[in-house]
Amino acid sequence: MNIAYLLKPKSKRRSEALKPTQSLPFGQIRTDHMLIVDYEDGQWQNARIIPYGPLSISPGATVLHYGQALFEGGKAFMHPDGEIYTFRIDKNAKRLNKSAEILCMPSIDENFQVEAIHALIDVDRLWFPIQEGASLYIRPFMFATEDSLGVHPSKSYKYIVILSPSGPYYPAGFTKPIRLLITKKFHRAVSGGTGESKAAGNYAASLRAGEFAKQFDASQVLYLDAQNKYIEEAGAMNHYHIEKDGTVVIPEFTDTILRSITSESIIELQTSLGLKVIQKKVLLDEFIEKIKNKEIIEAGGFGTAAVVSPVGEYVLEDNTILTVGDGSIGEYSKKIYTYYTGIQTGKIKAPYGWLKKVEKNLSFKTQN
Ligand code: PLP
Ligand code: COI
Repeated sequence: MNIAYLLKPKSKRRSEALKPTQSLPFGQIRTDHMLIVDYEDGQWQNARIIPYGPLSISPGATVLHYGQALFEGGKAFMHPDGEIYTFRIDKNAKRLNKSAEILCMPSIDENFQVEAIHALIDVDRLWFPIQEGASLYIRPFMFATEDSLGVHPSKSYKYIVILSPSGPYYPAGFTKPIRLLITKKFHRAVSGGTGESKAAGNYAASLRAGEFAKQFDASQVLYLDAQNKYIEEAGAMNHYHIEKDGTVVIPEFTDTILRSITSESIIELQTSLGLKVIQKKVLLDEFIEKIKNKEIIEAGGFGTAAVVSPVGEYVLEDNTILTVGDGSIGEYSKKIYTYYTGIQTGKIKAPYGWLKKVEKNLSFKTQN
């Protein structure tokens, strides 16, 4: 599919919008353009990069009634050579199609997704944030547009990509450990449901738990399985803990847990990190016991937005506080964070194929 470029006559420049001294929020700022592709008559068509702006959508569009929508989250980084590289964006493209399958939506060619995301970043490359530790957050999403009130998969869709120059997801970044509420009251997913997908509805359903977490001064909840027996994941990141011997444990992926690209990457990096990383079912009672007797010395979350977010404390619904280690950011988490972000930012050599350079397409530059 060819991509049509309908560019803003005069793009804003990062120097106007992103002051180097300004600390960047996560996900608030937009670049000048977006990519849109329509699914009509059984095929994806009319790929275009156009100025960022409101969409026109029918009030009867099924997404507005039954929530047939999904999204992805990826990142691009600027390397010391001054070039922009996307990080494992092919994995996001693949997972988008997995979510699409779960939600009865059409798949979209993975190579095309990567090419289209690169084209959009290229158009808005001057929006790359210059703040230390910032990145360009990539948000592809897809939703149902058919004007129909029957509950059935839509016949038409839009695939859209927007970009957001972003700072850390948790405002304090890697400097301050977070607190998670372990909840038995709310659940994110059940087997046979949509937990393994990035269905928009999973996140709508998590809002109530997120608000509840605030009452405990916690950043997010840590979800358990439906029987309240095993640890699953947090609302926007996978969970990890680190045992006294340095073993990193990530709950085993099931159809109720999102297969985090960050977790998968840390697993693949274990040899070069010099750490053993395993996946297994994590019993809540054992987890709590091991935190109390200091057999678990570190814990946290893995995610694209969250990167590596150490947890200093868990709070239970009866207000019991469990401090992990001494409550500060531990050495193993620091090591993982430094190594992982070193790879993303080009300071440490990445495994083959993890980083793709955003090439410059000089042909459209004259219209810009
Ligand atoms: N789990 C959930 C529910 C998420 O929303 C995310 C974020 O994407 C993750 C885990 C982490 O996945 P990834 O590392 O692919 O961003
Ligand atoms: C991401 O990490 O990219 C996510 O999708 C989490 C999001 C809900 C902010």
